[in-house]
Amino acid sequence: MNDMLGNWKRTHYCGELRSEHIGQEVCLMGWAHRRRDHGGLIFIDLRDRTGIAQLALDPDRDLQAHTKAEAVRNEFVIAIRGKVSRRPEGTINTKMSTGEVEIEISELRILNEAKTPPFMLNDFTDVAENVRLKYRYLDLRRESIQRNLMMRHKVAQTVRGYLSANNFLEIETPVLTKSTPEGARDYLVPSRVHPGNFFALPQSPQLFKQLLMVSGFDRYFQIVKCFRDEDLRADRQPEFTQIDCELSFVDREDIMTIMEGLIANIFKEALGIELTLPMPRMSYDEVLDRYGVDNPDLRFALELSNITDLVKGCGFKVFADAAEKGGLVKALNVKGGAGFSRKELDDLTNFAAIYGAKGLAWVKIQDDSSWQSPIAKFFTEPELAAISKKVDAAPGDLVLFVADTAKITNEALGRLRGHIAQKLGLTDPNLYKFVWVTEFPLLEWDGEAKRHVAVHHPFTAPLDEDIALLDADPGKVRAKAYDLVLNGSEIGGGSIRIHDQSVQSRMFALLGIEEEEARQKFGFLLDALEFGAPPHGGIAFGLDRIMMILTGSDSIRDVIAFPKTQKAACMMSEAPGVVDDKQLTELSIRIRKTIGDKN
Ligand code: AMO
Ligand code: AMP
Repeated sequence: MNDMLGNWKRTHYCGELRSEHIGQEVCLMGWAHRRRDHGGLIFIDLRDRTGIAQLALDPDRDLQAHTKAEAVRNEFVIAIRGKVSRRPEGTINTKMSTGEVEIEISELRILNEAKTPPFMLNDFTDVAENVRLKYRYLDLRRESIQRNLMMRHKVAQTVRGYLSANNFLEIETPVLTKSTPEGARDYLVPSRVHPGNFFALPQSPQLFKQLLMVSGFDRYFQIVKCFRDEDLRADRQPEFTQIDCELSFVDREDIMTIMEGLIANIFKEALGIELTLPMPRMSYDEVLDRYGVDNPDLRFALELSNITDLVKGCGFKVFADAAEKGGLVKALNVKGGAGFSRKELDDLTNFAAIYGAKGLAWVKIQDDSSWQSPIAKFFTEPELAAISKKVDAAPGDLVLFVADTAKITNEALGRLRGHIAQKLGLTDPNLYKFVWVTEFPLLEWDGEAKRHVAVHHPFTAPLDEDIALLDADPGKVRAKAYDLVLNGSEIGGGSIRIHDQSVQSRMFALLGIEEEEARQKFGFLLDALEFGAPPHGGIAFGLDRIMMILTGSDSIRDVIAFPKTQKAACMMSEAPGVVDDKQLTELSIRIRKTIGDKN
């Protein structure tokens, strides 16, 4: 058959060519990255996913190929045949892996032309992201993003290899399913066959993986898409990928140990880095006390100090009141930060306000260790000394304070800690600091709904020693749950599950989920728990977040081939979009009001 390629067969990828290939006849295919005309000589940088090879076209060697090359424009698809040769002295490019060689072209074919791309396809040009996302297939030609996706492939292979070697079975679970209990809003899919009924896209395969344990599969994993209709952030997508795992006959330590091995394998394969195992573990109470948030970045110290006891009854009403009312007063000592300007302090105050702080008190420690601060006047000398001691204040330090409810104080100062570390350049991108956060609370009080809600999900088991508290003081019950945090990012989380029907019923009662509602939502799981459910537990890692860290990307969109925008839309396909009336009729759906521009 005579197709466009004729009898041409590609012999090499562009990026593979080295001095050892000198003298060989090769056939390459790819995109014209750049063409340079040097009088008679034409050079074309030919690109494929492995890199760039320099093509040299000399009119004296082959006039026909040279003439064709004159017509080549950026992003034309071309095939060439030629001989690998050493670049002339002085033209060797040590920055390119193929920089020692070039290809002396004997034949050139234009396989396809290309319109001028709407932006330069390199990593050095600043292009608005919405333009990139509209032409994502072009944006994906950029080297950095190709590298990211190739590394993602490698990580996926490593995950499959490691988990398979540890007896995990890869089993698929449905995408058209019922609402799952992860707590975000569901994406719904109307059923045509059952008018007025909806599938929910899974927020995770949580219920199915537990059922697989009941079925006796013992160890399951899946690299799986999950869907959550929630407010998006730099590290959140409405559809994202989990490395989802579940295991039978194991305790927390077993799971953490196996999963540390998985993460260590990923780091070795992807970055060539050997992690030190085991990874540190810290209780939820401890991380909150020291860092204010449950996903602390441990690449730097900047720990918080609790000064609540020291300010009880002090002259500064804001602090005294917070302490009086059972709130929390905490301090963050920014070592050497006394040089912060008024404006910088205002910016920090505004930042803290995002998390609900009603103010941000500050102290600059003077050379003589005295306080320069608008609030110094409210404290006695012994109080100042005690606070200084507690926060380890030294001349040149900046100490920041928040007084509020425990939740607001911790969150505002904890976030501020990360923010300041960024500002001061303390977040070394080449450091990888892991921590397992354990013993999360099982329940948290939802002030709006006036009831407890599950911190993780309703199938998480309480600590055995806390079961007695379930009735007496549910807010104090700790869970057999754990999160893995890396450099301030929650990259995974899981728990040991309740496998005992009576504990599960108590849990639902505590959550204010009526028996009928529980049956309607999770009846199949409740039934299954009565047919010999083994003790089991699991975890899910956010693959996209892991890839962000491995590739050093600031945006989750840089590690996903076809991501959604912050507004949960696809700029390229323009999804979501309107549908025909006919389709709506088939689904028995009527749109109540037309909502103008979806953006
Ligand atoms: P969880 O809800 O903690 O647990 O999710 C597990 C991990 O998935 C990642 N993640 C996300 N990544 C990108 N975009 C999002 N919108 C997003 N939401 C979550 C995080 C998180 O740690 N079924 C349980 C797991 C279990 O108990 O086994 C679950 O889904 O990295
Ligand atoms: P004021 O007396 O209200 O002007 O506050 C004096 C200082 O205390 C200012 O720097 C405020 O930002 C700070 N401040 C006010 N409320 C709080 C609070 N809840 N926590 C920490 N600092 C506060």
